[in-house]
Amino acid sequence: MTFVVTDNCIKCKYTDCVEVCPVDCFYEGPNFLVIHPDECIDCALCEPECPAVAIFSEDEIPSGMENFIELNAELADIWPNITEKKESLPDAEEWDGQPNKIKHLER
Ligand code: SF4
Ligand code: F3S
Repeated sequence: MTFVVTDNCIKCKYTDCVEVCPVDCFYEGPNFLVIHPDECIDCALCEPECPAVAIFSEDEIPSGMENFIELNAELADIWPNITEKKESLPDAEEWDGQPNKIKHLER
């Protein structure tokens, strides 16, 4: 089991999640974060910390976002580790809640 970062993180990247993860299993791209499924210990600490409500347990992924399970696994192998909170993206509040941000994902 793992937790998964989903669509609403894209173009927001608040990074509050990073601060609470006891095993530092978040990985950072230009405008999205992912969780490494082999490193996540399923502690659930990050889920309530995300202001964008973008983090879900693998077995509670909202309908239509199942593709983010594979996407987290794929990108966590490529992107660098992030262990400290940083400024959110400049237009985070504007983008928070917009649907289908996957088309804006930068790799
Ligand atoms: Fe880290 Fe726990 Fe969130 Fe997994 S569930 S990403 S271990 S804080
Ligand atoms: Fe993204 Fe939420 Fe973390 S917006 S960076 S999953 S706090």
